[in-house]
Amino acid sequence: MKFFVDSADLEQIKYLNDIGLVDGVTTNPSIIAKSGRDFIEVIKEICDIVEGPVSAEVTATEADAMIAEGRTLRKVAPNVCVKLPLTMDGLKACKTLSSEGTPVNVTLCFSANQALLAAKAGASFISPFIGRLDDIGLDGMELIEEIRTIYDNYGFETEILAASIRTVGHIRDCALVGADVITSPPNVIAKLADHPLTDKGLDAFMKDWAKTGQSIL
Ligand code: G3P
Repeated sequence: MKFFVDSADLEQIKYLNDIGLVDGVTTNPSIIAKSGRDFIEVIKEICDIVEGPVSAEVTATEADAMIAEGRTLRKVAPNVCVKLPLTMDGLKACKTLSSEGTPVNVTLCFSANQALLAAKAGASFISPFIGRLDDIGLDGMELIEEIRTIYDNYGFETEILAASIRTVGHIRDCALVGADVITSPPNVIAKLADHPLTDKGLDAFMKDWAKTGQSIL
């Protein structure tokens, strides 16, 4: 399963990338606003750090303007992936841009039917939002399972990019269900390494080693 970092925080992206935990990056207008950075500049800097796909989202809502923005974003770096909202205009822009060879990440997906449309429109990635479904008492993981089944039934090559990840449990469940990618805030990825028994065991090893009076170097 590929790990994408859902952030525009360059330091946190670099930290995880140095550990080999970054297969790509996703951003959205809210993440860019939070960064306080110039959109094109920060996307360019992220693309210089990360080899994998870097999602940059259009801000237009009408197909022709989405296509124009997508073509502009695509020129920023070879690994830019254009992010489009799951609307009929977004699907029209997806069909056009993907037919030109531009990788497209269709975002704001909340139903299996929406994911089916994105695959038929040629999306490289579909971004179903787990956390936001959970927030309203629905089962975000159930959507991932439904999309996995539908895509496998018909051999769609669109990759399931599970988004709106809030917990390490979401990441585990996505791996169990067979999502192709998760995109997660950096802090949740870092939490994957945490376990109290690991801490307790390491502490015991260090105390016992100290008793030997030895050192390796
Ligand atoms: O990539 C989509 C993600 O940023 C949405 O996450 O937590 O705002 O639902 P969240």
